[in-house]
Amino acid sequence: MKSVIVTGASSGIGKAASTKLAGAGYKVYGLARSFDKLQEMARRLANFVPVEFDVARPDRFDKVLDPIIASGVFGLVNNAGYVEPGAIEDLSMESIRAQFETNFFGLVGVTKKVLPTLIAQKEGRIVNVSSMAGMVSLPTIGMYCATKHALEAFTEALRIELWNTGIKVASINPGVIETNIHSVTDEKVSQLKNSRFAKAYRKYLRETPRGLPASIVADAIHDAVSSPKPKYRYLLGSAKEKAGVRLRRIAPDDTIHALVARRVLE
Ligand SMILES: NC(=O)c1ccc[n+]([C@@H]2O[C@H](COP(=O)([O-])OP(=O)(O)OC[C@H]3O[C@@H](n4cnc5c(N)ncnc54)[C@H](OP(=O)(O)O)[C@@H]3O)[C@@H](O)[C@H]2O)c1
Repeated sequence: MKSVIVTGASSGIGKAASTKLAGAGYKVYGLARSFDKLQEMARRLANFVPVEFDVARPDRFDKVLDPIIASGVFGLVNNAGYVEPGAIEDLSMESIRAQFETNFFGLVGVTKKVLPTLIAQKEGRIVNVSSMAGMVSLPTIGMYCATKHALEAFTEALRIELWNTGIKVASINPGVIETNIHSVTDEKVSQLKNSRFAKAYRKYLRETPRGLPASIVADAIHDAVSSPKPKYRYLLGSAKEKAGVRLRRIAPDDTIHALVARRVLE
């Protein structure tokens, strides 16, 4: 039985991916801080091993990850992450660093722990859950976008460095997906009511469209782990979201920036 590590397995996309992979016969190590939620999943799912883990605590990586890696690992799904909403002027350096620690540096650290084993066994999968926010940058969540842009650069370089090693690297780029991430964001935005962007925050949240179900992303993650020829990029979203990402690549900067400023800030 092949083993897959999934970070951020207690909720949303990670939970759906863990359920899908465990159902497909993989042994899934589900990692997250909320151990109670993972234990609840373990009661329902065969082949699911709950592991308490904080991706922002690199001092504990060896202790938690070494035994898992020693028991054999085929896949790593780097999924843990969160959105710290706020315009750049509204976020403290501390919160910006914390967001990078979870969404980027923690992910890099976990990947580096698993890499030597995958390289030695000449096979494996690394699936990074990025976002459409890794391909466009939007006001009021710019620092989240920055973490995902950093992830894009990391994933692309990693894929090329692992060319012909037997290890396949995939990037998952969802648009809006129905998960807990939005309620957490909502709560944080309510603390920013004195900002010059208060109206934009309210508008951004009010207008956050209903997204696709997490199962769509779970299916893509399953494909990236199990297909003999996985895609490099899984762009998952509404037709409008996909068009927005493609338009960003070809439209002049001034046109795009003016359009987004009008839409989000006015
Ligand atoms: N939902 C969307 O619209 C959307 C769109 C594009 C990309 N994404 C990406 O998808 C990924 C999953 O998000 P989601 O939408 O499924 O959100 P979610 O429902 O809030 O789930 C986030 C998961 O990440 C875990 N997590 C957060 N901080 C962690 C930490 N320090 N250490 C370990 N685990 C941590 C959470 O578990 P604990 O709190 O138990 O630790 C939870 O399991 C994120 O990387 C997000 O950026 C989401």
